[in-house]
Amino acid sequence: MSPEDIAIQFRHVYKRYRLYRNNKHRLLGIFSKHIAYKEVFANRDLTFAITRGESVAIIGKNGAGKSTMLKMITGVAFPSSGKIEVNGRVSALLELTAGFDPEFTGRENIQLRGQLWGLEKSEIVTLEKEVVEFADIGVYIDQPMRTYSSGMKARVGFAIAASIKPEILVVDEALAVGDKAFREKCDRKIKEIMATENVTIIFVTHSAASAEAVCQRGIVLEKGKLAFDGPIRAALDFYERPQEEPVAAG
Ligand SMILES: Nc1ncnc2c1ncn2[C@@H]1O[C@H](COP(=O)(O)OP(=O)(O)OP(=O)(O)O)[C@@H](O)[C@H]1O
Ligand SMILES: [Mg+2]
Repeated sequence: MSPEDIAIQFRHVYKRYRLYRNNKHRLLGIFSKHIAYKEVFANRDLTFAITRGESVAIIGKNGAGKSTMLKMITGVAFPSSGKIEVNGRVSALLELTAGFDPEFTGRENIQLRGQLWGLEKSEIVTLEKEVVEFADIGVYIDQPMRTYSSGMKARVGFAIAASIKPEILVVDEALAVGDKAFREKCDRKIKEIMATENVTIIFVTHSAASAEAVCQRGIVLEKGKLAFDGPIRAALDFYERPQEEPVAAG
């Protein structure tokens, strides 16, 4: 396998968070070493490679470290130690509403995003047209985003994320926002992106059915560690295996 075939490579990646007693301590902790804190490891020693065109489900209980891993792939968070390599344009269907300026209209926020990506004027015009059409929120597109319902914000966010024509698509199922009709529209869009040749998919879900429908491979996280990595059915079997009940003392 040549290095160009690798879409994502994690090498001994740890992500550590510090928990302070309260916000004041958190702030003081930035300046002083003498403020007490607890450490939690959201990811521990993750090592794996994902090849271009693979679709991989990330499976695990609440708090297992799935979203943390995705955030590091998309560059929203950075590892405390270890190395991450990402080759290709990443689009993330998570935290869809992050990064909007509430004082600007939906249309202006789309244009801003286009500028941020370094698009040409004509490309921004195309982006705006596509996103406005897909989001389909009527006259609100020209109102400040602070007046939007959360579903409307999510519509604009999804429409922008989906417009990128990504090489690596990261989906966190937690995007269960929007009404039924819009969710179905999102599902169709995701399937359309997935059908594109050589797109790499990282998919976090608690649904075994959607994991099996979308992915060939499954990675199971347990308490931040990689507990299983293999074919999707085997990964689901591992995740759903009967666990030992703690034995009561006496
Ligand atoms: N910013 C943060 N500060 C402190 N702890 C955090 C932070 N983000 C995540 N954590 C902790 O890291 C661990 C992993 O969280 P993460 O969100 O990655 O889990 P998850 O697998 O996505 O869970 P879920 O299925 O509930 O979405 C949890 O214990 C969580 O409390
Ligand atoms: Mg999560």
